Amino acid sequence: MDQVNVGLCGLGTVGTGVVKLLQSHAEEIKYKVGSEIQIKKILVHDMDKKRDVAIQSEWLTDNAEDLVSNPDIDIIIEVMGGIEDTNLLLEQAIRNKKHIVTANKDLMAVHGQKLLRLAKENNCDILYDASVAGGIPIIRSLTEGLASDKIQKIMGIVNGTTNYILTKMTDDELAFEPVLQEAQELGFAEADPTSDVDGLDAARKMTLLANLAFKMEIGLEDVEITGIRTISQEDITFATSLGYTIKLIGIASIHNGKVEVSVEPTLLPKDHPLALVKNEFNAVYVYGEAVGETMFYGPGAGSMPTATAVVSDLMDVVKNIRLGITGNEYIVPQYDKQLKENHE
Ligand code: NAP
Ligand code: HSE
Repeated sequence: MDQVNVGLCGLGTVGTGVVKLLQSHAEEIKYKVGSEIQIKKILVHDMDKKRDVAIQSEWLTDNAEDLVSNPDIDIIIEVMGGIEDTNLLLEQAIRNKKHIVTANKDLMAVHGQKLLRLAKENNCDILYDASVAGGIPIIRSLTEGLASDKIQKIMGIVNGTTNYILTKMTDDELAFEPVLQEAQELGFAEADPTSDVDGLDAARKMTLLANLAFKMEIGLEDVEITGIRTISQEDITFATSLGYTIKLIGIASIHNGKVEVSVEPTLLPKDHPLALVKNEFNAVYVYGEAVGETMFYGPGAGSMPTATAVVSDLMDVVKNIRLGITGNEYIVPQYDKQLKENHE
C-alpha cells in the first residue's frame, strides 16, 4: 500500500497539530511506515474560520458524510470532541470499514468498549493513546511495554488544565479565574472547562487506564470524584507554609480483585515526585507486580504533544493494515471475557 488516505474530524488545537506534524515530519513518517499518508478531507464546524495551518481548500467540509462514507478514506482521525453524535459518526465509519484514531476520552470512557467490539467485528483498529496524558505514551505502555505484568496501582496527574491552574496559584499566587482563562487560550482546557475543573476529565482518563490495567469494566459511577473548584488561595498558602503542595491526583488500584478509583485534590510533600510536576505537564506512576515502580512524565495537553500521540497511533494503524493484523486483537477479548462473566 503506497498511500493511505485519512479523513480528519476537527481542525482545532489538536487537529491543527496533526496536520502540522504530518507535514513537517512527512519523510520521517513515510520512512517508518513505508506508506505515504495523505489527508483527503477535514471535517469542521465553521467553513469560514481562518485556519492557522497550510491546508488545501478542497479538504475542508462541514458534511461528515464526506469522510465516513468516502470510499477513498481508509482511516478517520477524530479530534473534534463530543460524545453521542461523535459516537454515531464513528459507528458509521467503522461499519464502512474505516479504522479510527481518536483523542476523545469523553467518548472512549462512555462508549469505548462498544466501539472496540464493533471495530473488532469489522476488522478495524481503534487506537486512542492521545486520550490520556497528551504526549505521554501511557496507554501504549500499559498495552505493550508492561503487557506481561500484572498492574496493581496507577497514580498520577492526568489533567493538564488543573495542574496549570494549581501551579500558577501556588508559584505565582494568581487567582483561579484568570489562570483558567489562560489555560483555555493555550488550548489545554476542554470546550466545556467544567469537566477539567470538576475532575471529570481526570476521572474519565483514570477509568480508561484502570480498564486496561485491571482488565475490568470500570465506569465513571465507580470513581470518587472531587475537583479543584473549592481550593482557595488560603488553602494553598496554608499548605505551602506546612511544606506541602496541592495536586489533583488520580488513583486506581486493585486489592483482592476489588478495584478502587478516585480523583481528588491531595496534599503532597513539596519534594514528592508528583509535587514537582508543573504547569500542563502530567506524570503517571505505575506499579506492576514484576516490574515494580515506573514513572511516566511529559506534556499532558496542547497541540503538538497531543498530535504526536495521535500521529503515532495513526502510524501503528498503517503498519497493522500492511501486516493484515487490524481489529484490536489485544484489547477486545479482555472486555468480551469480562462482559460474558457479567452476564452469566
Ligand atoms: P477544539 O480546539 O475545540 O477543536 C475542535 C474542532 O472540531 C474544531 O475544528 C471544530 O470546528 C471541530 N468540530 C467540533 N464539533 C464539530 C461538529 N459537530 N462538526 C464539525 N466539526 C466540529 O478541540 P481540541 O482541543 O482540539 O480537542 C479535540 C479533542 O481532543 C477533544 O476530544 C479533546 O478532549 C481531545 N484532547 C485535547 C487535548 C488538548 O490539549 N487540547 C489533549 C488531548 C485530547 P471549527 O474549527 O470549525 O470550530
Ligand atoms: N483538557 C485536558 C487537560 C486536555 O487539561 O488535561 C488533555 O486531555
